[in-house]
Amino acid sequence: MEKTIGERIVDAMPFLDRASDAVQPKVQELVDAGGATARYVLDGVWFEVPLHPVLTDVPIGSWTAALVFDGLDLVSGRTAMRNAADASLTVGVAGGFVAAAVGFSDWRYLSGGSRRMGMSHAVLNSAGLLLNTASLLLRATGRRNAGRLAFLAGYSLNGMGAHLGGELSYKYGLRVNRNAFEETGPGDYVPVLDEADLSAGEMRRIEVDGADVLLSRSEKDGRVCAIAATCNHMGGPLEKGDREGDTVVCPWHLSRFDLCSGKAINGPAVFPQSGYETRVREGRIEVKAVEENIQEKIT
Ligand code: FES
Repeated sequence: MEKTIGERIVDAMPFLDRASDAVQPKVQELVDAGGATARYVLDGVWFEVPLHPVLTDVPIGSWTAALVFDGLDLVSGRTAMRNAADASLTVGVAGGFVAAAVGFSDWRYLSGGSRRMGMSHAVLNSAGLLLNTASLLLRATGRRNAGRLAFLAGYSLNGMGAHLGGELSYKYGLRVNRNAFEETGPGDYVPVLDEADLSAGEMRRIEVDGADVLLSRSEKDGRVCAIAATCNHMGGPLEKGDREGDTVVCPWHLSRFDLCSGKAINGPAVFPQSGYETRVREGRIEVKAVEENIQEKIT
């Protein structure tokens, strides 16, 4: 089978599984030691987006600016360009350490091929970050040309690392909303279950027009609620999770969702579950997809 560029880079690092076996439990321990607050921040729950892709813009943008300023410094010899290069490099290094910490946190759930690719992404970016840090030290101690070379090498490694980060998202679907790839369900109300068959406290997975839907009854007011039954984090089966009040805790990585609104209350999931509107007609529960979730298949 034809391999992607990323897979060929991964193949060139045979130590990735061993390194992952050693590092992954430590990352999990560190995140756990930080408590719930650290976990929510690292997972991006409070910001409702995964943080790592956002944070990587800081080093990538700053280092690209540093590269341009280094070039302008070489051409013009102007002190302002030199200072701008050093400042941009410094901002990028600071941002790189923060992005790396959040990236390791995202990686703690991975296994198999995605875990290997995540580790190679981390190896390349960490090596690039160390070279860029060394570049700063070399510049500060008057060895500017050596600093520029170290930075060029670091920037190249970070470019390769960024490519692997893209494959992690676009090939393995890391940290994307898994609900977005499933059938959205009916655009109009469809009867799915006798109302009498849905007892209080129950979470019932049903299938309607190809969509897997989790039905439940609110403890607060008894209304029937419906959200996507597959966890949008990595596909866990929510009907097998624990129900706590009007929330469900995913059995795989413990994301908690509101059973009626779908809101992600605890991470690692950051997106709300796809929602469904419900009504009861002639003793039958009917559901339809929320309009904003319906995507026409345009061919
Ligand atoms: S699959 Fe990861 S929290 Fe549900």
